[in-house]
Amino acid sequence: MDVQIDRVNAFIRKHQNQKKALIAILQDVQAEYSFLPQEALRQVARSVGLPLIDVVGVATFFRAFSLKPRGRHVVTVCSGTACHVRGGPKILEEFERQLGVGPGETTPDRKFTLETVACLGCCAIGPVVVVDGDFHAQTSTRKVAAIIKQYGKK
Ligand code: FES
Repeated sequence: MDVQIDRVNAFIRKHQNQKKALIAILQDVQAEYSFLPQEALRQVARSVGLPLIDVVGVATFFRAFSLKPRGRHVVTVCSGTACHVRGGPKILEEFERQLGVGPGETTPDRKFTLETVACLGCCAIGPVVVVDGDFHAQTSTRKVAAIIKQYGKK
């Protein structure tokens, strides 16, 4: 991954090199690269005057941030109890089979990242799959191909 330091510096300047804006700076970097590259984290730490370990600590604390490259589309399969008993594991297996990656991994073409989550808080409509923030209710293994096709075109 080629990190353009000028671009990272622009995000840092936008927030006046302020430590208190660290999360906002990291959000901008993640929006640009879809993850937080090491080189960018080092530059942010230097510029706002924080030890790298503190910046990495924030980057790993929040689930919204990722230190690994992510795909253009993030597929999150709920593995909470209610979704589990309605077939969640089979749906996850089908995404794994069709995408060729496991949870926490990204397809080689960087189109999809597959993730799981403990519970999305909408158990009544389970099993639930969320893609890029869109909720897919009462999902089944038969719907997996259509979901991948729908987002794969974008
Ligand atoms: S268990 Fe899946 S939404 Fe709660």
